[in-house]
Amino acid sequence: MQLNLPVINDDATDIRRKNVLFSPKFGGSCDIDSKPYIQELGVKIIERRQPIQFTSNFGEHVHRWAPYIQGFSATFVQSILDQYKKDYESPVILDPFAGCGTVLTQSKLNGYKSIGTELNPLLQFIADAKVNSWDVNPELLMQVFSSIPRNLRKAAPNFLKSENQFNKEVLRNLEFLKGGIDSIPAKTLKQIKIKNLILLAFSSILIDCSNLKRTPCLGYWKGKKVAENAPWILMEQKIKDICGDLAILQRDFKDALCIESSVILANAMEYKHEHFFDLIITSPPYMNGLDYVMNYKIEMGWLGFTNESRDAKKIKDSLVVCDNVSKGLIKIFTQTTSKYTNNWIEEMKTSIAENIKRRGSYRRSDMPSIVHKYFDDMYKVMKIVTKSLKQKGRFILVVGDSLIADVYVPTDLILAKIGEELGLSIEKVEKARNRHSGQIRNYRLRETIVTLKKDRKGKKNNGR
Ligand SMILES: C[S@@+](CC[C@H](N)C(=O)[O-])C[C@H]1O[C@@H](n2cnc3c(N)ncnc32)[C@H](O)[C@@H]1O
Repeated sequence: MQLNLPVINDDATDIRRKNVLFSPKFGGSCDIDSKPYIQELGVKIIERRQPIQFTSNFGEHVHRWAPYIQGFSATFVQSILDQYKKDYESPVILDPFAGCGTVLTQSKLNGYKSIGTELNPLLQFIADAKVNSWDVNPELLMQVFSSIPRNLRKAAPNFLKSENQFNKEVLRNLEFLKGGIDSIPAKTLKQIKIKNLILLAFSSILIDCSNLKRTPCLGYWKGKKVAENAPWILMEQKIKDICGDLAILQRDFKDALCIESSVILANAMEYKHEHFFDLIITSPPYMNGLDYVMNYKIEMGWLGFTNESRDAKKIKDSLVVCDNVSKGLIKIFTQTTSKYTNNWIEEMKTSIAENIKRRGSYRRSDMPSIVHKYFDDMYKVMKIVTKSLKQKGRFILVVGDSLIADVYVPTDLILAKIGEELGLSIEKVEKARNRHSGQIRNYRLRETIVTLKKDRKGKKNNGR
């Protein structure tokens, strides 16, 4: 078949288009490119289509308290818990990348103890407030909110561009709302929980009040109209939702109220757990995925988790790497002597470097090292949490693959291979949905559920 390709000029703006149109991956798919890896691992990829993204949580009790586009669906977590009901009587669950606490919330609703680690302080705060405030009296919460003084003004964080992000009158109302919230006493545990829920509600209305949208990256929304009093109206609605959910929890989930759930502000690459877990259910950052810090800079600033732009960068550089970390961080990584690697990663690094050279330009020339650092970071997390997994325990990862400079990176299969090297067996690899490559839109990627089990001695890795 003949393709009618557009005429390509030689100027700089067309180089990117040219690279896309003439990419050897144009119109390709992960199904073809992952064949050799599947064969080497000796696994099959089973189709198990399901809604896996957070959007389906927006109407769900507790989950709806904070919209978090990078989270996964409560229904998915529930399906995992149901699947292994018979294998573990009362499982203890870990999510090393807790995000806004979907796994922890759903575990608690089932009466299961759970622990999470999360390195973004805003998300750790949100997740903690979501699982540790279920005994707050809803009438008291509403009463405290309704009596917030409306004449105390707290200026917007001065390092954010608030005058662009919000209309003048909306910003004024937000500043009075925040001033009122700050004046709520928080001395007793009861008062702290109430104030935390009000702060959680405040953080969750900020983007709706702004001139921005998250799709999933934060960007300006031309023509968005926000009413002057939106902060007060949206806040009241959010508090009403929370109160409604608290009443339901206290009526229908009495036994769950005292179940332990904790979200630790810690680096999953380093944190040594005191508990042993039956199930680890998690979704790590995707390699060329989202920036979990810059995307939340507004909420982090208003809630006081960052006081200047530098704070955000510091947090970002400690997370599992994404493709817009500082060049300095990657340079330091390349100079580190002890790094995880395996033959697949080394081959991919070489191909990526060759393709970047051939293309003449790419987003970042240090992409091979970013890919390497991603797997080194993930190896550290997997190694440390696998030690805390009980015998017969399962480690379930939801992850997406990537296409980088025309090189297919089967993140799911590489993590499965690392799992094997750490002594786990690959129980199953399931495709949950198709995705598109951000670079070459008609290249098909996937999102996968990888289930690893601690039940045998794994293969030895000679790569480190
Ligand atoms: C895909 S999100 C997880 C979303 C979660 N499943 C939910 O439903 O809310 C990945 C999370 O990992 C966190 N993270 C990245 N690197 C981390 C690290 N080294 N230690 C702890 N958390 C980390 C990010 O801040 C982000 O919130």
